Amino acid sequence: MNKSDIGLIGLGTMGAMLSLNIAEKGFAISVFNRTVARVDSFVKGAGSLASQITPARSLDEFVDTIAAPRAIIVMVPAGEAVDAQIAALRPLLNSDDLIIDAGNANFHDTNRRAAEATAVGASYLGIGVSGGEDGARHGPSIMGGGDRSNWGRVAHIFDAIAAKYQGKPCATWMGPGGAGHLVKTVHNGIEYADMQLIAEAYGVMRDGMNMTAPECGTVFGRWNRGILKSYLTEISAEVSNATDPTTGSPVLDIILDRAGQKGTGRWTVIESQQTGAPVPVIEAAVAARNMSAELTTRHVGEDLFGGVPQVLDRESLTLDDLEAALIVGKIMCYAQGFALLARVGTAHGWELPMSAIAETWREGCIIRSAMLNDMATALGEDPGRNLMFAPYFADLLRRNQAALRNVAAVAVAHGLPVPAMSAALGYFDTMRSARTTANMIQAQRDFFGAHSFERIDAQGSHHGPWGKA
Ligand code: 6PG
Repeated sequence: MNKSDIGLIGLGTMGAMLSLNIAEKGFAISVFNRTVARVDSFVKGAGSLASQITPARSLDEFVDTIAAPRAIIVMVPAGEAVDAQIAALRPLLNSDDLIIDAGNANFHDTNRRAAEATAVGASYLGIGVSGGEDGARHGPSIMGGGDRSNWGRVAHIFDAIAAKYQGKPCATWMGPGGAGHLVKTVHNGIEYADMQLIAEAYGVMRDGMNMTAPECGTVFGRWNRGILKSYLTEISAEVSNATDPTTGSPVLDIILDRAGQKGTGRWTVIESQQTGAPVPVIEAAVAARNMSAELTTRHVGEDLFGGVPQVLDRESLTLDDLEAALIVGKIMCYAQGFALLARVGTAHGWELPMSAIAETWREGCIIRSAMLNDMATALGEDPGRNLMFAPYFADLLRRNQAALRNVAAVAVAHGLPVPAMSAALGYFDTMRSARTTANMIQAQRDFFGAHSFERIDAQGSHHGPWGKA
């Protein structure tokens, strides 16, 4: 029997779609799932691709059907299930067999697992895969991490299955250990922020401009033909235009306003707090999801304070302003994400390929956007420069910042919550302030804790004349 080129464990949605994608690109793949019945139903549904797929009914059989040295993708829920799967697999493998975790792992876990593998002479990769179900099936964006020579062993498979931007595969080795999963985590942080900014624009249209969901859909569709062209803008138009078959209402109107999360946005914020790289728009987006979850409390709040925002006077705010505000917000959340990546990368001794990260996100992933090509160019010119200072983006910011200011001001004045837009504006205004108010913070710290401060006119650390007057 011919052995498979690669194996995959975990036939949930992403694993199943990735397997079909691999098979379609001409690779022979063995598949296994803890619930064995799923293996049969998967192969049955694979149609003509079934001839490329070897179903296995036990882990031993699975390992045995893969050509050595083996490459095995593990696509199980992040966390303990990954450790359990590795523990079950290792005794069946040779030291040069490669385990590849393609789930949304916490990159610290991937660092640990990579170190554990190295300690026993085994091979391990952690790769971030973005693009949801459709991306996994037809071309995801792939962010690789681990030993570079191990990546080299499977890069041809990932290049084949990845999305292509003008023919170039969106699959890149990001660095050792958990570097790939770090890049995927921050990708998701940006995803949270971009989604929240779009949701706030929708809120301004729905509550402030009295627009119906399909009217919002038309606007998102129009924006998707301009600078905001992106997957998230596109799907926002689609979801706004959809009708609920049961009620005949717009689907958006019957969806509960409570958003869940699996944790990658939160992990991004934790890394920001750990390293001191500010990501206020992403923080606002994570907090907004948490606030959305406080449904009962919000109802109490509305009863107590009155929640119905006033409809805006249409002269005070235009849809063009809203589009311009989103452009600024979007630049801010990407700029913060890339700056965070650089900071965390440095903390781990990784030279993350900043421009190649932007290139890898140009197609296939959830945050793919027309802006990413210009970001790749800007980061190629200067990988250490905050994107908001790159000439192309600085120009966009100069032209559009007044609109964000207007949207935030009008929304705040009318009681419409725009926490991510406000955070974007706060970041913009702070990052263009040569003199902030942290001198007051330093004076307070020195007053109550003798923490000392720096002076603008002399070197060294100093104390104030507190209490001596
Ligand atoms: C992607 C997505 C994907 C998934 C997120 C959603 O890049 O394909 O980010 O990984 O949709 O896990 O995350 P939340 O459930 O936390 O929103």
